[in-house]
Amino acid sequence: PETLTILGLESSCDDTAAAIVRQSGDKPPEILASIVHGQNELHSAFGGVVPEIAARAHAEKLDYSVEEALTTSGLTLAEIDAIAVTAGPGLIGGVLSGVMCAKGLSAGLNIPLVGVNHLAGHALTPRLTDQATYPYLMLLVSGGHCQFLIAHGPERFSRLGGTIDDAPGEAFDKTARLLGLPQPGGPSVQAEAKYGDPKAHRFPRPLLDRPGCNMSFSGLKTALLRARDAVMAEHGGLPKQARADLCAGFQAAVVDVLAEKTRRALEVYLADTPSKPLLAVAGGVAANTAIRARLETVCADHSVTFTAPPLALCTDNAAMIAYAGLERFRSGAQDDMTLSARPRWPL
Ligand code: KG4
Ligand code: ZN
Repeated sequence: PETLTILGLESSCDDTAAAIVRQSGDKPPEILASIVHGQNELHSAFGGVVPEIAARAHAEKLDYSVEEALTTSGLTLAEIDAIAVTAGPGLIGGVLSGVMCAKGLSAGLNIPLVGVNHLAGHALTPRLTDQATYPYLMLLVSGGHCQFLIAHGPERFSRLGGTIDDAPGEAFDKTARLLGLPQPGGPSVQAEAKYGDPKAHRFPRPLLDRPGCNMSFSGLKTALLRARDAVMAEHGGLPKQARADLCAGFQAAVVDVLAEKTRRALEVYLADTPSKPLLAVAGGVAANTAIRARLETVCADHSVTFTAPPLALCTDNAAMIAYAGLERFRSGAQDDMTLSARPRWPL
């Protein structure tokens, strides 16, 4: 097969991203540029992503991000073979900004357009970073998602289960807010948890006693709120050590739930006797060192290889979109000007 150079665009949440990925024949794909502009400072005062502000910022930053990706890679638009763009799921204003920009480029340059499911982008990342072979098991854990998938092909995934309410990242962010720690909550809770006693509080492990791979994290938030209030009532404030203990207890509960459900997902996955069994994690929460360490242990117990992409490719980025578009395009798929932006789009 020939060499393909794909420009990818991502704007489905609060990161505006453009990237260029190239693959020559069967060689490992190369990331020639990956530009990400976060919007944290725009939303921080509101305690969450404001869709209208996000959409405007994407519209303003997309062209600029494409230019930066070209400059970084040293390529010109004439060397791009196709434009890949996140067409959902996500905040519709942002997704629309990306799709419009991609359509403009595709029409202007007269090159193909490929719509990509954002979740497929995350789920295919281990193929970009580790040349993972199908089928592999994927745990996608972020601020918006939490699910186990078996990837059978670029557009073929089976879902084994996932959260029935909040995503773990949301729970980390909420925990940080309740404890007066900075956002995003994941890194700050993880840092505090290092000094805490995970056994000082016993937080629930929801759905752990139920069969299957479904998870629930909303009860954990409520339990944390109650435990915090109890500490505050006792001490008339939140002592540093008590805060660390709450973080450690909370994180331990999330780790236990993810580890046990991963064990079950592995059993389902291994029943099909994959030749090179692999568990990959992706999504912002995959940055958590305690979660990574436990999942590594679970995998070792099952003789399954564990991989976590580099942090910059775990969180939202356009390299994963360019790569997923590349796989779709190679398999003969392509979109046209009727490509629509989809707020919801299950894999
Ligand atoms: O994938 P991502 O960048 O955005 C989406 O949600 O799509 O993930 C962001 C989430 C946030 O909730 C953040 O708190 C969480 O990932 N996160 C972490 C860590 N780093 C980021 N959660 C736990 N531990 C971390 N070290
Ligand atoms: Zn994402």
